[in-house]
Parts: sequence; structure tokens; C-alpha cells
Amino acid sequence: MAILVTGGAGYIGSHTCLELLNQGFDIVVVDNLINSKAESLRRVSDITGKEFKFYKLDLLDEELLETVFIEYDIESVIHFAGLKAVGESVNVPLRYYYNNIISTINLCKVMNKFNVKNLVFSSSATVYGTPDHVPISEKFPLSAMNPYGRTKLVIEDILRDLYVSDNSWSISLLRYFNPIGAHESGTIGEDPNGIPNNLMPYITQVAIGKLKELNVFGNNYPTVDGTGVRDYIHVVDLALGHIKALDKMSNHSGVETFNLGTGKGYSVLEIIAAFEEVSMKEIPYKIVAPRQGDVPICYADASKAQNELGWVAEREIKLMCMDAWRWQSQNPNGYGKDTLITESEKNPGLIIKSKDFFVS
Ligand code: NAD
Ligand code: UFG
Repeated sequence: MAILVTGGAGYIGSHTCLELLNQGFDIVVVDNLINSKAESLRRVSDITGKEFKFYKLDLLDEELLETVFIEYDIESVIHFAGLKAVGESVNVPLRYYYNNIISTINLCKVMNKFNVKNLVFSSSATVYGTPDHVPISEKFPLSAMNPYGRTKLVIEDILRDLYVSDNSWSISLLRYFNPIGAHESGTIGEDPNGIPNNLMPYITQVAIGKLKELNVFGNNYPTVDGTGVRDYIHVVDLALGHIKALDKMSNHSGVETFNLGTGKGYSVLEIIAAFEEVSMKEIPYKIVAPRQGDVPICYADASKAQNELGWVAEREIKLMCMDAWRWQSQNPNGYGKDTLITESEKNPGLIIKSKDFFVS
């Protein structure tokens, strides 16, 4: 029996694969590598000393996806695959709706066909729109302010409808707050394409000298110092939350929603200060106009995940900054050129093995 991880080569997916392997799960990974490198998976194999199968595959291709279910005895699916850039989603909404929604529908159809009905889905705190107050609990009203957010809302609805139609499904909707940081080895981490949209990768690229200075989007919000406040969560804590959700599913059907956050909010200036302290690098910044669509303050009430999953985020903000910096400083160009892409194109069911196997 194996766990299928869609989008497993990506930032959160690769960290989750690592924790799954460490805890003894068998995994199969599918990813079309549109926003990631298969090199991340080779490093996961390196760190864990485990092998697993990787399919370079687009979830939009339902037939190809079926071949994975034919070959493997899949018991549960963790579904990370999706496009995630908020700004881009405003410019190319159809691409976002098509990719994120149709790929999820395809996945559920194939799961249904093979009688696999355990699904963990990557949702987002973005589904709370602009919350009335904080901390945000799962019961807050839902709304979205951009096409990306709407894909998450629509998919959540689709999955709730699916459960209504068939009560044997077990579905966890995990609403992530702001994942940052990297595995403590510094060998896997977040590797954004081009100029980062998100705060932490922007800061680490300023620290390494790739970007000149950080633009701080607004300093007139009703927060501790006027800059935006978010609930930053270490990506390893987030990964572990998925394993807790899998545990819960093993003896429980239903659709359950969980906030995965720390319950603490930090402002942009507080993040800069924490990063500077652990990295001993100065982060030059300037205050610019607020970014359109940003909410002033967002942090989780994560008590439901604690009470029902037995999960709490344990890693604090300085460790998040330190791990993000270790990853960036050890990998100034991220994963670099991906030799596994051609390898995986020749062989769609590539076995990902540790370093020596692939180094040419
Ligand atoms: P990521 O881009 O690093 O990973 C997503 C992966 O999905 C990528 O490897 C990409 O190549 C793959 N993918 C996209 N479309 C695909 C398709 N049609 N078929 C196969 N593979 C496909 O992003 P991430 O940060 O790891 O995010 C994982 C999930 O969590 C996403 O669904 C994202 O929307 C959600 N999420 C992320 C954040 C965040 O801040 N990182 C916050 C909330 C929710
Ligand atoms: N910020 C800056 N300068 C930057 C980037 C960000 O000042 O260059 C500020 C933002 O204004 C915000 C905070 O830093 O106050 C965090 O911004 P991010 O872009 O890192 O994160 P967001 O909260 O805007 O959004 C992220 C993901 C969304 C996801 C959401 C909730 O990008 O996809 O977290 O999980 F929905």
C-alpha cells in the first residue's frame, strides 16, 4: 500500500515526501514539474536513504494518471499539485481555473474508479478573504479575492459535494497559513521561478545579494508597527500535519477542515529583524505602497488541529529564518539545472534513488 503524493516535487510536497519516508510510508510521486525540479526528489532520497517511484505526469491527463493506479496499490492521496501564484492568477485566470480545478476533478474520478477514497487537499488561508477579526477559526466565512483563491474555494466545495454523494470518502481540507523555512539539512527548500512573490524567499535573495533591497508593502496597517502581519509556519511542521491528517483518516470518514498555522502573527519588520539576527546579514528595505489585495493581519486559531489531530506547530520563528537562510546560502541558485527532467521524460515511472545512481 502506498501514499500517492501529487505535486510532490514542489516546496511543501518534497518536505512532506521526506517526512512520509522517514515514518516508514511507501510513496509514489506524480508531478508535471511546471513549477519544480525532480532534483528535489533525488535529494529527498539522499536524505532518507529510501527509493520511490516518480512519474513526470500532468494530472490533466486522466488516462496517464490511471496507469499509476493500475501499477500501484494506492491507499491515500495527498494532493499538492496546483498553480499558486496569486498575481499570475489575476493575469491568466483561465489557466488557473483549468489547471487547479480540472486536475482535481480528474484525480477524484480516478480515485473513485479505483476505490481509493482518502484524500488530503492543500487549501489555503486565502479562503478567509479579509477576516473580520483574528485569530481565524475554521468557522469563519469564506471568500476569495483573486482567481487563485477562488480555485481553492471551488475545489473545497467540489470535495464537500463529493462526500455528500458518497459518505465513504474521507477528505481533509488543510488550510495552510504562511509556510516558510526548509529542512534542517539545507538541501531541500523553496526554489521560486524568477523574482519571488513571497516575503521569505525575497528576504533570503536580498541576503545572498541577488536582489538589492526588500520592498515592504505598506506601513499603515492597524498592526504593531504598521506592516502586514502573518502566521508563518515552518514547512516541516506543515509536512507533519499531513501525516497527522492521514492517521485520522485511517479510521474516520467525512470532510474535515483544519487550519495549519502556529496561532502567532509576526509583522514584516519583525520578520526582517528575526532574519537579520540569525543570519547576521543586513536586509536593506524601503517602504512602498500596500500591495493590492493584501489583508492587514492574518493568523490562525489552530486549536482544532491540536484537539482533533494531535498536531501543533513546534518550530519557532528564528528557526524558520535560520533554516530558510541555510537553504538559500547552501544553494544560491536553488536546485539549478535539473538533469532528472530528461531522465524522467525518457522513463515516466522513474525510480528515484540516492545521489550516486544519478551523478554522471
Ligand atoms: P509548488 O509550486 O512548489 O508545488 C506545487 C507542485 O504542483 C509543483 O511541483 C508543480 O510542478 C505541480 N503541478 C502543478 N500543476 C500540476 C499538474 N496539472 N499536474 C501535475 N503537477 C502539477 O507549491 P507549494 O508551495 O509546494 O504548494 C503546494 C500546494 O499548497 C499548492 O496547491 C498551493 O496552492 C498550496 N498552498 C501553498 C501555500 C504557500 O504559501 N506555499 C500556501 C497555501 C496553500
Ligand atoms: N511582503 C512585503 N514585501 C514582499 C513580499 C511580501 O512586504 O516583497 C509582505 C506582504 O505585504 C504581507 C507579508 O509580507 O504582509 C507576507 O506576504 P507573502 O506574499 O509572503 O504571503 P501572503 O500572506 O500574501 O500569501 C501567502 C501565499 C498565498 C496564500 C497565503 C495564505 O502567497 O498563496 O499566504 O496561506 F494563500
